Amino acid sequence: MSLVENIKKNKVPKHIAIIMDGNGRWAKKKGMARIFGHRNALTAVRESVIGASEVGTEAISLYAFSTENWNRPKLEVDALMSLLIHSLKKELPDFQKNNVKVNAIGRLGDLPKKAQETLNEVIDATKTNNKITLTFCLSYGSREEINTCVKKIAEEVKKGNLNPEDITEDLIQQNLYTHNLPDVDLMIRTSGEQRLSNYLLWQLAYAELYFTETLWPDFRREDLFKAVETYQNRERRFGKTSEQLEGEHEQTI
Ligand code: FPP
Repeated sequence: MSLVENIKKNKVPKHIAIIMDGNGRWAKKKGMARIFGHRNALTAVRESVIGASEVGTEAISLYAFSTENWNRPKLEVDALMSLLIHSLKKELPDFQKNNVKVNAIGRLGDLPKKAQETLNEVIDATKTNNKITLTFCLSYGSREEINTCVKKIAEEVKKGNLNPEDITEDLIQQNLYTHNLPDVDLMIRTSGEQRLSNYLLWQLAYAELYFTETLWPDFRREDLFKAVETYQNRERRFGKTSEQLEGEHEQTI
């Protein structure tokens, strides 16, 4: 079993992003409706946040509802929205106890009013917490995010506040929903699917990808530790050679 003690303190991923997949299959295996899987997903959410915090990760982002998820049956969409509202309220005392700062990104205006209000309350109540930032990606799609970002920058060019030469990678980063988060170091997807599904495409440019067969409702902090251990054993070269990296390492010791 993977233990937090096995994790090296000097190579902790700053930002972990998770595609929480497999709720429907988990429920089906038990002969239950899909929503039963979503309801049983909350323990995995809690465990991941606590686990990431124990590891020393600064930020964890969860793909809770994609722009494409609106196409699911209305009954499932409504159930997911009410689950979001109830669980945010229920978890607030634990967010405070564990010093978790809650954040949300995506087309939040598309969410039901009640979900928007609850999110705003929880975000406001936790805004001075600083152990870990938990970002719920809601009505989120990476292409939508990039499209919104391009429009914002184009408006500034049109107004004459910006020249095309001023458009740098940094400027793009500053205009994404994730402007206040570090790049993703580790992306985890559960349930055996190996796809990015329109998730944080810009932010994942140099991320290590970790896929596990575990269905999301069964995911526990030990699974997260195992993902972090795997991440720590990989060599991140950022386009350089192994020899160059060894040279840099020798200079720092
Ligand atoms: C993917 O499983 C999961 C989702 C689309 C929703 C994620 C929602 C939760 C984890 C519920 C709790 C979250 C919050 C923030 C309250 P799936 O339904 O696609 O599973 P399948 O691929 O097996 O059908």
